[in-house]
Amino acid sequence: MRYADITGWGKCTPPATLTNADLSTFLDTDDEWIVSRTGMKERRISHVPVSDLAHVACERALAAAGKVAADVDLIIFGSCSFDQMVPNSASRVQQLLGADNAACMDLNTACTSGRYALSVATAMIKTGSANSALVIGAEATSVLMDWTDRDVAVLFGDGAAAFYLEASDQKSGVVAESLGCFGKNRDILDVTGWGLKYANQGQVLGATKWNFNGPEIFKRAVVGMSRACDNVLEKEDLGKEEIDLVVPHQANLRIIDALAKRMGASEEKVFINIQRYGNMSAATAPLALVEAIEEGRVAPGAKLLLPAFGGGLTWSAHLITWGARIKPLGTSAVDLPPCDKTGLELVQDIIAAKKTAEV
Ligand code: ACO
Repeated sequence: MRYADITGWGKCTPPATLTNADLSTFLDTDDEWIVSRTGMKERRISHVPVSDLAHVACERALAAAGKVAADVDLIIFGSCSFDQMVPNSASRVQQLLGADNAACMDLNTACTSGRYALSVATAMIKTGSANSALVIGAEATSVLMDWTDRDVAVLFGDGAAAFYLEASDQKSGVVAESLGCFGKNRDILDVTGWGLKYANQGQVLGATKWNFNGPEIFKRAVVGMSRACDNVLEKEDLGKEEIDLVVPHQANLRIIDALAKRMGASEEKVFINIQRYGNMSAATAPLALVEAIEEGRVAPGAKLLLPAFGGGLTWSAHLITWGARIKPLGTSAVDLPPCDKTGLELVQDIIAAKKTAEV
């Protein structure tokens, strides 16, 4: 039996930070509300296109796996904020890496994109159509944010993470998964101005309005992720207590707490980094796993449960048996170009650019 072991991991967090205090300089909000309702303290704002974030994360994942670009058979770029539709963003990562042997595809399931990408890559390695893959979750929603809407503007940030997968005959990597979608409820997270539907309606592309029913999304997120977790545990005939670490999508600390309660998972068994980054959509769940490894929370052979949800409303859970290695084999010197602006200045630039486009 073939498996897809995860042997490399890397993240790329843009350096500019946007704090809750920064947000309260132009929105009617404050640190107390944001922290108490979401758990978020700050988030990152990217000064480069999302494919550049993804490229750096991939360089780091390759180095951690001890591989070079020529080893990569497949690149799957999970996101909903691609630089452009044609050509796809995976091909730009291939170009930047020099991974000339790789097939390239983009995949969009909103916040679950990195996790759905993990499923596709694992399946392609298991069937033998690829021997290795780079799986990306990356997002730069800051350019698509409605910065006048406090209901959503405080929730999101930018970032990227990537994993290197390779064929293995050891039972490791994704060993069970459950994917689904509450399509009937897709309209409760609907962003107008973000897609070709709006091109002929006189609306400026990128001038978004977020129709976002937070409390309703909240409920379905908890139900969807709990259901997905139960499904994967049943598939592998595992008890909840046999999970070593839950690494959930980080959209709201209260959603994570509600899920943990349903799963009977104690605080030390749940990885949380939402305070540092907010919700980075497709990058969130992959980046949380990278940081869990970096912080020594993942042991060789650990059983990891990875629930996620996103627009659509897509939901998922993956059960991973971690492989033998938890230390990177190498590091990469590749980095982002320096950023000479603060997060607040970058956001002010985006707001100004939108005003100009709308005139
Ligand atoms: N600052 C201050 N007050 C605010 C803010 C803000 N940033 N945003 C909303 N409020 C106000 C509202 O206007 C409302 O005021 P009112 O009572 O006078 O009408 C009040 O705060 C309460 O608003 P609620 O919506 O009831 O607050 P709630 O406790 O439900 O928290 C939140 C809102 C954080 C959005 C929560 O519902 C949530 O996290 N939902 C799911 C998160 C989510 O959808 N994330 C994205 C998922 S999809 C994906 O990951 C791509």
